[in-house]
Amino acid sequence: MKDGKGLSEYLNTAGKKELADLFRYYCEPATAEKRAALSLWANELREKYYGSKVFFRGLIEFSNYCQNNCFYCGLQRSNSKAKRYRLTQEEIMECCRKGYKLGFRTFVLQSGEDAYFSDTLLCKIVSQIKELFADCAVTLACGERSYNSYKSLFKAGADRYLLRHETANEKHYALLHPSELSLSNRKKCLYNLKEIGYQVGAGFMVNSPGQSLETLAEDFIFLKEFKPHMIGVGPFIPHKDTVFADYYKPNSSRTLTVLSLLRIMLPKTLLPATTALGTVDEKGREKGLLAGANVLMPNLTPAKHRVDYSLYDQKLCTGWEAAEHLPDLARYLESLGFTPDFSRGDYIDFQTSTQRLT
Ligand code: 5AD
Repeated sequence: MKDGKGLSEYLNTAGKKELADLFRYYCEPATAEKRAALSLWANELREKYYGSKVFFRGLIEFSNYCQNNCFYCGLQRSNSKAKRYRLTQEEIMECCRKGYKLGFRTFVLQSGEDAYFSDTLLCKIVSQIKELFADCAVTLACGERSYNSYKSLFKAGADRYLLRHETANEKHYALLHPSELSLSNRKKCLYNLKEIGYQVGAGFMVNSPGQSLETLAEDFIFLKEFKPHMIGVGPFIPHKDTVFADYYKPNSSRTLTVLSLLRIMLPKTLLPATTALGTVDEKGREKGLLAGANVLMPNLTPAKHRVDYSLYDQKLCTGWEAAEHLPDLARYLESLGFTPDFSRGDYIDFQTSTQRLT
């Protein structure tokens, strides 16, 4: 591939086999030269649509109770070693107050699938945030819910929803999840969210057990069709209390390649450099941004609960991961040539006001 334009066209038109071949070329091995070319093209495109901006989201992990048993996740309900917690509505507001003072204008409310947070309660929380912080966006990441639930939450003021599809291959989905969860329902939820008017994030783990270059190709094909506003990708990291505890030793390499390729395929996407990336590689977040990502999600969860939101081992929650260090983080990003942006950071073509009127 000679240039980014050619690669972009290829990514948008290639079938599964061609995509898998392309990944083979870039991933086996991912040499410094190949990575540099990808980063260059990815950055040109990010620059074209979002300039050098990096957007911030304040992450509030408000409950680690989960009714699901996803085999890879440390929060699965059968993990009796997980120390469970829920934040109260007032504790969530306190996180927002603190975040607002620090400069955040997007709050991401993330949890396991916890039925305690009924539609009524979650709607109350969302509308209170919107009432107190009218210039902020609220993103929810609380798993699969019904169409009507998503609709009520949207009406209450939620702007965005993150729900990773995890893998677009049925067999692979079944290897990662118990039989009561299905790829078709996950996709249905994603399409429902979009129809309702949310800015929607899909995504997957890189190097998850059973992932192959072919399943990765299916992820790209699904994303190309679905066109999410955001894509969350990070390396799979084994969790000691799961069946995949000894799966492999994670690293950042393939995730960085995937981030660049996603930026090139869907150049307007908001792409976070994830905590998982920072966990497997000390410089993971910076490398992620340099590979084409443009979002960071520092943690606003009360410090005493942060270690308990343990999706995987050694999950970072200090240093830059901690929202308290936002000013230092912003200065560091400037030194790398990025422009820290404290606006809501909506998807570039998203007209919030128009969407809300319809
Ligand atoms: N390693 C990396 N990411 C994980 N997630 C869950 N478990 C792990 C793990 N062991 C990701 C999933 C989920 C998101 C909240 O965290 O992709 O959607």
